[in-house]
Amino acid sequence: MNILVLGGGGREHAICWAVKKSSKCKSLFCIPGNAGISEIANCKNLDLNKKNELIRFCKEEKIDLVIIGPEQFLEEGLSDYIRSKGIRVFGPSKKASMLETSKAFAKRFLTKNKIKTAKYREFKTFDSALEYLSTTKYPIVIKADGLAAGKGVIICKTKNEAISGLNIIMKKKKFGSAGKKVIIEEYLSGFEVSYFAFFDKNSFTKLGYALDHKRAFNNDKGPNTGGMGCFSPTKKMTKDIENQIEKKILIPTSIGLKKDNLIYRGILFFGLMITPKGPYVIEYNVRFGDPECQTLLRNLQTDILKIIDYNLKDKLSDITIRNKKQSVVCVVVASKGYPGNYRKNKILKNISKAQSIKGVVVFHAGTSLEKNKIISSGGRVLSVTAQANSIINARKIAYKAIALIDWKEGFFREDIGQKNI
Ligand code: AMP
Ligand code: GLY
Repeated sequence: MNILVLGGGGREHAICWAVKKSSKCKSLFCIPGNAGISEIANCKNLDLNKKNELIRFCKEEKIDLVIIGPEQFLEEGLSDYIRSKGIRVFGPSKKASMLETSKAFAKRFLTKNKIKTAKYREFKTFDSALEYLSTTKYPIVIKADGLAAGKGVIICKTKNEAISGLNIIMKKKKFGSAGKKVIIEEYLSGFEVSYFAFFDKNSFTKLGYALDHKRAFNNDKGPNTGGMGCFSPTKKMTKDIENQIEKKILIPTSIGLKKDNLIYRGILFFGLMITPKGPYVIEYNVRFGDPECQTLLRNLQTDILKIIDYNLKDKLSDITIRNKKQSVVCVVVASKGYPGNYRKNKILKNISKAQSIKGVVVFHAGTSLEKNKIISSGGRVLSVTAQANSIINARKIAYKAIALIDWKEGFFREDIGQKNI
């Protein structure tokens, strides 16, 4: 098969890496890709706003399957468009993607299907939301309805914090039109898990889970980011919790999708809070997580193209996914200043030295090539993944690899996976 992957982050590098291992892969393309991806795929710089050019490219290169990485493309309905041109595409429709692109839509879906989620109210005007803030208990969580790159969520300990949060979203419009509506919901405590399963028209099959580290600095300090590191598995995830996730979340989600005729073909990411009262859904995402994808695909044994083929044929009930029983730790190395302002175009050296450590694979995110040198070109720059027989050992290897990389403009968290011990 000729495969095209859309995106250029660590997630897409991991997807390309997994696709490349498949015997079904004849040629691999990526738009736009990055320096790391260009080592295993043919990277093209096409403007994805020009959809007809994308289709022309697919026809010219006889692309059999397009795999969409980021949610923005799904929100724009790119999967529907590609599908309408007769090309197979892995990624849900615009309508089904509303599970991520509108928090109000997701909340209604969860409530309708009796899936546990934080109690919430939806507000379309600043004044009605402000009035509610005088009546509620604290802490509470305020969320912009639309996509805000994981940053549209404000946890408020007091009424004053909540008023300021509401101002930021609805008056100052920090997240643009994503903040036209807000959700105000109950604060949940417990531990967070990113849980993944492939879903088709009739069924689903589980991939696995990872624990993300969203804050920028050690000990969960600093601003929220897209994710600074991950690990999997954890002893905290007992068989009982896994069973509850399947019975109370995955099965009702599958039934609910069918009832609403939301034909979903792709990976579904459940942001869960495991509370003392069991697992609650914080959010749905309609794509792989980043850096969860880098973590999970390291352990995937089943051919990813076989899974996708079964998924697109609505035959997921006929396939069981096999994973290596290994521990994986993924540490993100980012440009100093991320998630705020940071400098670009700084040379990175010795990535191949880091890669030569047994168990290590370095996935690239914001990197590009200039005169054969790898330079930084984004906030999150590398995902250093390490696989070993325990989280402790995987941590050791990951940090040993990072120490070999020569890039003074970078920073990373030193505590990824530490809380599991
Ligand atoms: P979201 O974009 O909905 O995943 O929210 C971003 C982060 O905010 C989550 O990963 C949680 O850490 C936190 N969060 C969101 N909703 C809640 C909630 N109801 N209670 C506690 N924390 C939350
Ligand atoms: N790491 C969280 C996300 O991809 O949304």
